[in-house]
Amino acid sequence: MTTLKLDQVSKLYPSTARGGGLTPALRKVSFELKPGEVISLIGESGSGKTTIGKVLLRLTRPTSGTVTFDGKDIASYSTRGFREYYRHVQGVFQDPFSSYNPIYRADRVYDLIRSSYFPHVSDKDWSAKVESALDAVALNPGDVLGKYPHQLSGGQQQRLLIARALLLDVKVLVADEIISMLDASTRVDVLNLLVKLKRQGMAVLFITHDLSLGNYVSDRTVILRHGAIVEMGATGKIFGNPQHEYTKMLLTAVPELHKKWHGVAEPGLAAASGSGAAAASQNGGVTTTTALSHATLVDELTHAEQVVKRDFRAVFGAGRAVASGKSQVAVALEPPTLREFEPDHLVAEPEE
Ligand SMILES: Nc1ncnc2c1ncn2[C@@H]1O[C@H](COP(=O)(O)OP(=O)(O)OP(=O)(O)O)[C@@H](O)[C@H]1O
Ligand SMILES: [Mg+2]
Repeated sequence: MTTLKLDQVSKLYPSTARGGGLTPALRKVSFELKPGEVISLIGESGSGKTTIGKVLLRLTRPTSGTVTFDGKDIASYSTRGFREYYRHVQGVFQDPFSSYNPIYRADRVYDLIRSSYFPHVSDKDWSAKVESALDAVALNPGDVLGKYPHQLSGGQQQRLLIARALLLDVKVLVADEIISMLDASTRVDVLNLLVKLKRQGMAVLFITHDLSLGNYVSDRTVILRHGAIVEMGATGKIFGNPQHEYTKMLLTAVPELHKKWHGVAEPGLAAASGSGAAAASQNGGVTTTTALSHATLVDELTHAEQVVKRDFRAVFGAGRAVASGKSQVAVALEPPTLREFEPDHLVAEPEE
């Protein structure tokens, strides 16, 4: 049982604001990802989502708190330990282009995996392995291998990176806004791929500021605000019966979305609860996805995206998260207390 767990993780960055100080990007965040589980990490811009992904991938160290993998603190790993860790825990980020070196062919990222992890595999076996990984992400080797990054679409680049993760024995995928820059049709393919990987036992941390997508794919949802968790639990519970004012505000900001889901969910699912959104999640968050036709889903996502973007702008403006400055940091660092509203549904006490 491979579980990736954050325990009381805080991260302070030197503030970029005038006067210095520290920005608390994360405040004592604790949650765990179990095998085959998809968790949506949702929050406004600057709430700390990417920082959580970076801490999990050890691209940055937490200021305090621990990340454990299979019960072992990753801070205690040797170089070799980290190599093993990355065999199991991989990340794919929003801008796939930045993961490639533009002067090399895109499949060089595979060569690097080969030299690090599979130096003794024969050319023939390696080609077969690459082809099967590409097949899993619905890419035709002839279309993508040997090409430079600029010759590939964003969707192809993104799927090549997911395929790279599949070459390894990946148990946890950190997916940071991986579909926001894809067109609606490719987005559906990538979402369906995540669903397939989940069924094969891979855990996914699905980082998004798009509630509708989070609701679609995840079993559990973590709502982050100003670097702290304000609500978390089964996605059906969070979307069906939100308790924190902030979560309620997020959800009321997208009322059309709920109506829409209700209309498109499979009749049996929609009837099972008050909203199509909740029904989808109670069924593992994926049933509705597969129940919808591709064309309908493309339509829904395009519409949902417009609504979400507009409402996020209306609610949050362009504002960033936490103010900096030494005196404020001392107060802001302590996260609100989480209490159990019901099993698998934690809610933070109001802040301010
Ligand atoms: N390298 C850094 N140096 C200083 N501050 C940083 C750094 N990286 C992130 N921050 C700050 O930490 C906070 C959290 O940033 P983070 O990137 O995790 O947010 P996010 O939720 O991923 O936002 P977005 O939705 O815009 O991607 C923000 O206030 C951000 O300005
Ligand atoms: Mg981010």
